[in-house]
Amino acid sequence: MPIAFSIFVENMENKALYIETYGCQMNVNDSEVVAAIMQPEGYRLTERMEDADVIFVNTCSIRENAEQRIWGRLDVFRLEKRRNPALLVGVLGCMAERLKEELLEKGIVDLVAGPDAYRSLPLLVAQAETGQKGINVLLSREETYADISPVRMDKNGVSAFVSIMRGCNNMCSYCVVPYTRGAERSRNPETILHEVRELFDKGYREVTLLGQNVDSYHWSEGTTSMSFAQLMEQVALVDPLLRVRFATSHPKDMSDEVLHTMAKYPNICKHIHLPVQSGSTRILELMNRKYTREMYLERIAKVREILPDCTVSTDVIAGFCTETEQDHHDTLSLMKEVGFDMGFMFQYSERPNTKAARHFKDDVPEQEKNRRLNEIITLHNELSLQNNEQEIGKVREVLVEGVSKRSAEELFGRTSQNKVVVFPKNNYKVGDYVNVKIERCSSATLMGAPQI
Ligand code: SAH
Ligand code: SF4
Ligand code: F3S
Repeated sequence: MPIAFSIFVENMENKALYIETYGCQMNVNDSEVVAAIMQPEGYRLTERMEDADVIFVNTCSIRENAEQRIWGRLDVFRLEKRRNPALLVGVLGCMAERLKEELLEKGIVDLVAGPDAYRSLPLLVAQAETGQKGINVLLSREETYADISPVRMDKNGVSAFVSIMRGCNNMCSYCVVPYTRGAERSRNPETILHEVRELFDKGYREVTLLGQNVDSYHWSEGTTSMSFAQLMEQVALVDPLLRVRFATSHPKDMSDEVLHTMAKYPNICKHIHLPVQSGSTRILELMNRKYTREMYLERIAKVREILPDCTVSTDVIAGFCTETEQDHHDTLSLMKEVGFDMGFMFQYSERPNTKAARHFKDDVPEQEKNRRLNEIITLHNELSLQNNEQEIGKVREVLVEGVSKRSAEELFGRTSQNKVVVFPKNNYKVGDYVNVKIERCSSATLMGAPQI
């Protein structure tokens, strides 16, 4: 699901920037980097689009409906511009990279900046102020924004995203990311550790290390080098009270070393996001995922062996090119075999210029894709309910993230296993670790009472 939220920055001349973010966690962190780049230019934060002098929309191209949603937002910004003709609108992120001129042709867009071009935003804005449209969609082999301290946009001050790498070299045949975000590059570990320490000192108690494929994190300088497992260990050592999460792992690259490091440190959360995409080896090959059904199940067996208390979440695509009923059933049977705790499930959406778009026919009818997706979702809900029921009676340590949406008298947070828990507030506050005895559950949430 796209995440949308906003920030607001204003400067000495009382100029204000409003940012809307769509897409993945990495985009959320990128918007924080963008806010940090704009801040020295004198901008300050608020949340009202109506007050904005500049609107940035940080976009996603992963599926067609993600792009449709952005076109819809541009219509809203057009109305805003009618009210305030001096307003500038900038399109950032993956869709900016993919559609460049098409976006600029849309009268209301004043500037377009791709994911590696954010340092040039002050210049592009200045240019747009003079009435010239600004564009920078150059992809870089080096840019990691390593030296930039993101302006945090999370509302709770407890958990933060830290990007450890950018881009992707994997070329899954359905995916636009390698085209919109360019080649994979890892960020200097010193800058990562510095950022994590700063976050901890400010009161943050959880960091999520982000990359499209964290297992291929690799840094080398002179004679020293660092793998993902080593980096994760360094981050875990910052403080035992700091929880460490990471996403996304790739089944073809997730090493035993990573699993052993997770087992060694109680503050590394016992949850792995391991997208499977399909349970059919034939489809996985067409997707260019570079693992088979059996290899995926072998990785799961290793997780169970080394980390018996670890949850696994996944991504599934329904109705990829040539997918048969049998392939679909292979996906359902794999889901049952693994028993995923959480999942993101999508209908295949053909993306222009990807390998799948160029070489395969998008031949599963819409209605059929929809039916298969619904079967996947129904099964997933059953499986996650079963898993959650196993939690009843256990005592779990919960890091409090906020007040429950349903009641001001309840707090919510997550277990190390990434399950959301709701419980009575008592005297606890955001950022506390609370031992909660699980009493009830739904397929999405656990409910319980603090253990005194
Ligand atoms: N780097 C991660 C996630 C990338 S995008 C990984 O390799 O798994 C997040 C998810 O979006 C993917 O895991 C995939 O399930 C889904 N996705 C990507 N492209 C898609 C497409 N063209 N149609 C439908 N879902 C897609
Ligand atoms: Fe896309 Fe595959 Fe890279 Fe994930 S690993 S971002 S699905 S190309
Ligand atoms: Fe979307 Fe780009 Fe992330 S396409 S999922 S915003 S990497």
